[in-house]
Amino acid sequence: MLDVGSGASSFAVEASRREIEVAAVDPLYGCSVETLATHVQLDYARVSVDSCRRLKGEKLLEQEEIEQHRRAAAQRFLSDYESGFLHNRYLGGALPSLPFLDRSFDLVLCGHVLLGAYARFDDSQVITACRELLRVSAGVVRIGPFEKVPTTRRDALLARLQAEGIAPQIASCVDAHGRTVPQGLLILRRATR
Ligand SMILES: C[S@@+](CC[C@H](N)C(=O)[O-])C[C@H]1O[C@@H](n2cnc3c(N)ncnc32)[C@H](O)[C@@H]1O
Repeated sequence: MLDVGSGASSFAVEASRREIEVAAVDPLYGCSVETLATHVQLDYARVSVDSCRRLKGEKLLEQEEIEQHRRAAAQRFLSDYESGFLHNRYLGGALPSLPFLDRSFDLVLCGHVLLGAYARFDDSQVITACRELLRVSAGVVRIGPFEKVPTTRRDALLARLQAEGIAPQIASCVDAHGRTVPQGLLILRRATR
């Protein structure tokens, strides 16, 4: 499996503990563990300022719980980073050009990178990135979050993907609270001709 834009998430360490062959790629990988820890701290500060501004009551408590999980995950990542880097579990790289051969992975994931609150990719960049994610996948690509993409943007993206010979599918997923999120995932496959 490949996780693209894995950041300070614990996905790769958790997967490798389950004996899944996994690689995680991020532009930050290759930095020292101290630099990564500083990025993590800056990210905590930015997200908590945003949450305090936007949320109140139960929603704020819910967000704080998610943040605690995220911090614990970041600590698991930081503890694994140096040994994982030596074992090629963490590789430096960035979309739109990934350092892998065609069809290298059974499953490719890309979460909170191309779409979502902090994503900074325009539609053309998203399409180019989708092409690259599918190039390195022998099977499917899963991209999220997709549920908040406005309808007009969603329809335009789906039409452009189809024009590229990609078969997109929108699917539900499960969030950090175990709740089903309808239309939370964009799944990509090569279209059969
Ligand atoms: C919000 S974090 C998401 C981390 C993780 N995927 C998750 O869902 O918890 C976004 C990550 O995307 C990475 N990123 C930014 N630009 C990227 C690019 N062009 N290609 C791949 N990753 C990128 C950032 O370095 C950051 O670690």
